[in-house]
Amino acid sequence: MVGSKPIKLGSRSTAIEALRGVDLTGKVAVVTGGNSGLGSETIRALATAGADCVLCCRNKKAGQAVAAELQPTVKGKISVQRLDLADLSSIKAAGDALASLPSLDLLVLNAGVMAVRPKQHTKDGFELQFGTNHLGHFYLSSQLLPKMKKQGTPGRVVVLSSSAHGFGRIHIDDLNCERRWYGAWASYGNAKLANLLFVKELARRLQEEGSPVEAFALHPGICHTSIGEHMGGRATVFYCMYKPWLKSAAQGAATTIYAATAPELSGKSGAYLEDCHEAKPWRCARDADMARRLWDKSEELVQAALKKAGLA
Ligand SMILES: NC(=O)c1ccc[n+]([C@@H]2O[C@H](COP(=O)([O-])OP(=O)(O)OC[C@H]3O[C@@H](n4cnc5c(N)ncnc54)[C@H](OP(=O)(O)O)[C@@H]3O)[C@@H](O)[C@H]2O)c1
Repeated sequence: MVGSKPIKLGSRSTAIEALRGVDLTGKVAVVTGGNSGLGSETIRALATAGADCVLCCRNKKAGQAVAAELQPTVKGKISVQRLDLADLSSIKAAGDALASLPSLDLLVLNAGVMAVRPKQHTKDGFELQFGTNHLGHFYLSSQLLPKMKKQGTPGRVVVLSSSAHGFGRIHIDDLNCERRWYGAWASYGNAKLANLLFVKELARRLQEEGSPVEAFALHPGICHTSIGEHMGGRATVFYCMYKPWLKSAAQGAATTIYAATAPELSGKSGAYLEDCHEAKPWRCARDADMARRLWDKSEELVQAALKKAGLA
């Protein structure tokens, strides 16, 4: 990842600007939720810099349409992998398929659902927001990290969190929201806090192992993407009314590209980023002990569900 130029990046920078001339030829990237919003702009930028990208999405046709639109304008090759993060069998199948990639340098865990109401569940019975945004990505990364680590070359895991982690809370003995009130926004905050704690513990583990793979979490800014359009009520009105002041998807993806490519982030694994800069997460996201406990519980939940589904 060489060739960066000293361009000052900020809240209105785009994903292409955030590349700062970086050359990703020969690199391979996997991006979840690549068919829409920030995910497709992330793929556009990574593939513009020469990376071969795997666009993961739950609707393969939608992914193929986006890949066909992007491909003529970019250098890297874009392929499509079906992945439903709300279904462990689909994640297992995707993990098996992605194992045959020649290499894997960048893993961008971008997909997400926001403020789902009423309460819904994944195929394996997890509360949908926690199950998709955190557990689905947790399981996917457990399948792909061994490949990244085995390469022995620098790689990055980039996780899309949100400033909404600030009102999140980890209910360690009821992660699946079975014995407490379900709030659509509260659950989103909890899942986004889980994303951040996942990165904290992953970075710690990678450092302990002496792996050159690094992990970063980020808030992309409030962006005009389809995530805000089908929530209904005041949230939809907010996203539509304030559209001119929100970041575009290309601007929202800038921090992802910064996290994936900035040479100055080397050695800063575990950092949280906003507007293409390091930022301080809320206190709840700095709890190393909770990060460890969440990791262990997530492993327990996923393993039990895999066993139940006959997939272990
Ligand atoms: N936009 C914002 O203001 C904002 C702010 C803070 C954080 N974020 C975070 O940024 C990330 C990207 O969001 P976005 O704004 O680009 O929204 P988006 O356009 O709605 O994209 C979300 C992506 O996640 C995918 N997805 C949802 N459930 C999935 C599942 N079960 N399996 C696989 N993929 C699934 C969606 O697929 P479908 O197209 O099939 O639904 C879509 O590709 C999310 O993690 C979000 O929480 C966004």
